[in-house]
Amino acid sequence: MSKFIIQGPAKLSGEIEVRGAKNAALKIIPAAILSREKITINNLPDIEDVNRALELMEDLGAEVSRQNGRCEIQVSELSKNELNPGLANKFRASIMFAAPLLARAGEVKFPHPGGCVLGAATRPIDLFLEGFEAMGAEIKEKEDYYHIKAKKLKGCEYFFTTVTVTGTEAMIMAAVLAEGDTVLKNCAMEPEIPALAEYLNRQGARVIGAGTPTIKIEGVKEIKAGQFNIIPDRIETGTFAILAAATKSEIKITNCEPKHIESLLNIFKKQGVKFETGDDWLKISAAKSIKPYNIKTREYPGFPTDLQSPYTVLATQANGSSLVHETIYERRLLFTDMLAQMGADIIMCDPHRVVINGPTKLYGRKLTSPDLRAGITMIIAALIAEGQTEIDNIYQIDRGYEDIDGRLRKLGADIRREGTLL
Ligand code: EPZ
Repeated sequence: MSKFIIQGPAKLSGEIEVRGAKNAALKIIPAAILSREKITINNLPDIEDVNRALELMEDLGAEVSRQNGRCEIQVSELSKNELNPGLANKFRASIMFAAPLLARAGEVKFPHPGGCVLGAATRPIDLFLEGFEAMGAEIKEKEDYYHIKAKKLKGCEYFFTTVTVTGTEAMIMAAVLAEGDTVLKNCAMEPEIPALAEYLNRQGARVIGAGTPTIKIEGVKEIKAGQFNIIPDRIETGTFAILAAATKSEIKITNCEPKHIESLLNIFKKQGVKFETGDDWLKISAAKSIKPYNIKTREYPGFPTDLQSPYTVLATQANGSSLVHETIYERRLLFTDMLAQMGADIIMCDPHRVVINGPTKLYGRKLTSPDLRAGITMIIAALIAEGQTEIDNIYQIDRGYEDIDGRLRKLGADIRREGTLL
């Protein structure tokens, strides 16, 4: 198992380039199943979840060629409609293969999605299954996999009782080739969703309203395939912005979309974190002191749950008490134990709320990364802390951050990778 060894505290400076959004890439790859033509994806991040998704595509019979950030995929014929459990269990987003396989082959078998700690039993897929049933699919739940069949998916009206990002994307993909019209209500509005819809429409689909709570899809006979440029990863952007503020460093973040992290930037203004923005860059100035600010994670455009753990580290350096309220996931505050071990003054009020008193000195520790967002949070904490920090299980970090140690070294961080890749 490989690990990161980090020396802190770090004073960072320079530029860091944001990669293509993991949570856009993990949808457009399975979406290639919807067409027999070749799709070209640009700005594809080189991360483990993308590697698993492309392996799953090849396992299903797709031709895949990849050169740096550019990838071509063609699914002329499917060799099967069953997801390889060994691959599918490595990341929750494998669930995104179900809808396009159902739409194209009329049948799909897949294991309950896995992934990080968040990906265990606590990540239900009831809204996907109910949505597929609403379109006429027959669902059979076996011992440890699902078998879903649908001769031809039919348009339906479907209300998401919980706002779900991948649920919204799955139902869009299921409806694109369905018979008749589908109206989805209470949809998620994350930027990756209009990006997916805009691509599908360029290829002949008819998706209207993506990025709003109500999306209408008129089923079409077939869609073509073309070029998809992956939008910048807004969670990487916010993470690096928080890293700069937390280490009181001046960092320019390039190849990003500042408007996708308006929630964070407006909080920075209240905290006294100075920044400048351009069309595709964001520069954080070294903050002298940071004011505390209470956050509540919300669906987009609210404060993203994927930035909650990095923000919690920032709160340990703020002058005063901050309340962090995680409303989206169970278990997403578990990592705060690690921060407390490093010296943070954190009170767990209930499983969804913590109060962080700052500023506190953090000290290097031996840690294990439970999921990719807690993992990157440990790196930020290690770069603030006094002394050496070891972070184990860094596959979880490599799932979502391309060459993170290489990019941080370029900012002056003392971080190195040790051990085998297995
Ligand atoms: C997407 O996950 C992202 N993953 C997550 O990022 C992100 O944290 C999340 O959206 C929220 O923004 C991808 O896009 C691959 P949800 P998703 O369905 O779609 C409940 C990362 O680190 N729910 O919007 O799986 C669910 O339990 C990952 O990059 C049901 O109850 O999240 C949660 O409480 C982590 N039933 C809430 O909805 C369902 O069938 C929102 O989850 C589906 C979801």
